[in-house]
Amino acid sequence: MVRKYLSTLISWGRPGKTVGSDARLMQELDRKRLPKHIAIIMDGNGRWARTRGLPRAMGHRAGVESLREIVRTCTELEISVLTVYAFSTENWRRPQEEVDVLMDLLSEYLRKELDELHRHGIQIRPIGRIQELPPGARDELERAVRVTGKNNRLILNIALNYGGRAEILDATRELIKEATEGKLHPDAIDEERFSGALYTRGLPDPDLLIRPSGEMRLSNFLLWQLAYTEFWVTDVYWPDFRRGHFLQALVDYQGRDRRFGGLKI
Ligand code: FPP
Repeated sequence: MVRKYLSTLISWGRPGKTVGSDARLMQELDRKRLPKHIAIIMDGNGRWARTRGLPRAMGHRAGVESLREIVRTCTELEISVLTVYAFSTENWRRPQEEVDVLMDLLSEYLRKELDELHRHGIQIRPIGRIQELPPGARDELERAVRVTGKNNRLILNIALNYGGRAEILDATRELIKEATEGKLHPDAIDEERFSGALYTRGLPDPDLLIRPSGEMRLSNFLLWQLAYTEFWVTDVYWPDFRRGHFLQALVDYQGRDRRFGGLKI
C-alpha cells in the first residue's frame, strides 16, 4: 500500500494537496464503499474565464488541469470508471474558433498525456459520434484507444460529439438492424440488451454524477444510464474544481440512502 502510494507520488508528482480538509476527507472516506463509476459534466470554463477577464479558451485550458487532477485521484482511489463530458452534439453551435480550441486541446491532451495515462493503466474510450470529429482529433483518439486498449486500472470515457438522445437513437438503430436481419427477436430486447447497445456497453451505470458551476440540468448527458445515479452539484467552476471538491462529493455520496425505487429494510 505504502509502496503503491510512493510510486504514485514519484511518477505523477504530488497527488494534489493532502493537507487540512483533504486529509480529513480522506479519513472520512470508506474505501470499500466508493462508487465504481463516476460521471462529470465539466462545466463553467467560460464563466471562470470571464470573471478573470480572460478569453474563453483560457477557461478550457484551465479545465484540462482539473481533469488531470481528478483522473489522478481516481487512479489513487481505485475508481473503475470515470466518464467526462467534453463536447456535446450541441457544442457545434459555438463559434468555430471555440470549437477549434476544444478540438486542439483534446489533441494536445492526448499527445502530451498518453504515455503517462498508459503507464498508470488507464484505458481511454471515446464515446459519442466520433466519426464526425475533425481528422486530427480522430487520429489522436484512435492512437490512444490502440495504445491503452488493454489497460484496466481505470476506464476513462471521454464523451465527444456526445448526446444522450443521439446515443439512444444509435442503439435503437443497431437493435432494429439486428432484428431485421433475423438475428434478434424484438421480445428479447430488455433493459440489459438495450444497455448493451449503448456506447457504454459492458460498463456499470454511473453511481455518482458531479456537476460543477451550479447548473441543475442534465444537458443531454447519459440519459439512459443516469436513471438511478446520485447527483452532486457545486457552484465551483470546473477550472477551480480540485481534489478536495471531489473527495467531498465522495463523502456526501457515502451518506446517501440508495434505494433504487425499493424500500430500505
Ligand atoms: C463547458 O463549459 C465545457 C465544455 C463545453 C468543454 C469541456 C472541455 C474541457 C474541460 C477541456 C478539454 C477536454 C479534454 C478531454 C482535453 P462552458 O464553456 O459551457 O462554460 P460556461 O457555461 O461557463 O460558458
